[in-house]
Amino acid sequence: MPARSDHSRDIDIEFRGVSRHYGEIRAVDGIDLSVPKGTFFSFLGPSGCGKTTSLRMIAGFEQPTAGDVLIEGSSVVGTPPHRRPVNMVFQHYALFPHLNVFDNIAYGLRQRAPRPARAEITRRVGETLDLVRLGGFESRRVWELSGGQQQRVALARALINKPTVLLLDEPMAALDRKLRRDMQIELQTLQRDVGITFVLVTHDQEEALSMSDSICIMRHGRIVQAGGARELYDEPVNRYVADFVGKSNFLDGTVADTGASGAVLRLADGRTIAGRYTSTATPLAREAKACIAVRPELVSITAAQKPAGGMAVNAPARVKNRIYLGEQTEYLVAAEGLGDILAMASKTSELASGGFSPGDEVVIGWPESAALVLAEE
Ligand SMILES: Nc1ncnc2c1ncn2[C@@H]1O[C@H](COP(=O)(O)OP(=O)(O)OP(=O)(O)O)[C@@H](O)[C@H]1O
Ligand SMILES: [Mg+2]
Repeated sequence: MPARSDHSRDIDIEFRGVSRHYGEIRAVDGIDLSVPKGTFFSFLGPSGCGKTTSLRMIAGFEQPTAGDVLIEGSSVVGTPPHRRPVNMVFQHYALFPHLNVFDNIAYGLRQRAPRPARAEITRRVGETLDLVRLGGFESRRVWELSGGQQQRVALARALINKPTVLLLDEPMAALDRKLRRDMQIELQTLQRDVGITFVLVTHDQEEALSMSDSICIMRHGRIVQAGGARELYDEPVNRYVADFVGKSNFLDGTVADTGASGAVLRLADGRTIAGRYTSTATPLAREAKACIAVRPELVSITAAQKPAGGMAVNAPARVKNRIYLGEQTEYLVAAEGLGDILAMASKTSELASGGFSPGDEVVIGWPESAALVLAEE
């Protein structure tokens, strides 16, 4: 009997130093993580960073070349997929095209030994179809369904065996924007209703941020940072995370002075800019290469004659481009000595300033707290 960890009651999935190497390729390279019971967890990262491989190791389709994978406190290394309390919805979901909706969903139940009675199967399929809001679709053929409906059948098929953990590999990649948003809301509601643990793989940061309790950002088979949406957005550990999550302006420089809570960076033209360290960052050494990251919504933009007060940086700039986005307006300005800066003006500030047009002379600025001093990696 494998050893159970102390907190096995609260943790559904745990990786301890997990690697999956294919010869020279380090698909997953020394990952530690734990996913608390009943939470919505996401793996987020660019193509090829090891997301699917991580998920397949939870499902049992892949075995680690080093380390241990635990489900509900017990090691599952070597346990075949069908003996694990998990179910997976694949990156390219595959329904049985020759079966109708009912038979597609009942498939998993019919594979069970002992096989449930016919009435029980009918009841469970009906229940699960209601859950994904497809009640009454039992006799439809797969080709008679929309992409979103097919996706929900794939979900129902994974849910019918009541897994402890549901694994979802880019389940919404094939859907258009509107359908995607609807499915995201449905998935979240579903997760709350059934209370099981969801592990989602996505390369869409908006999707991960809006749906997950906890997100694990990966790069080259490793975890760069794990945390909640707010922490990743406001307290990125380095430039990679700040760049991957949301939009940022980056100013490159070297550390001229450093303290416990922040640093001063010297930019290429010799000017210095102060910023704060994020709560997750390690303070940098003098002369280290670093950058200042400023979120566009924290950049103020005002008429040249009326610079905003209380700013650590105030730079003359010229408006290059303006994009009206409805709830906000995005400006690209050329700022003296700083290069191109993106500023996001809220509707209220647009109403107050009257807005700006390409060619206008403006002043951009930000408070010191908005400037994050980040290491490159
Ligand atoms: N069976 C295999 N043999 C060799 N290399 C593999 C194998 N499976 C995956 N890899 C490699 O491991 C790395 C991680 O692959 P993985 O499928 O986990 O990426 P991913 O993050 O899911 O990417 P995507 O977003 O494109 O789906 C990639 O470089 C991939 O080429
Ligand atoms: Mg993948």
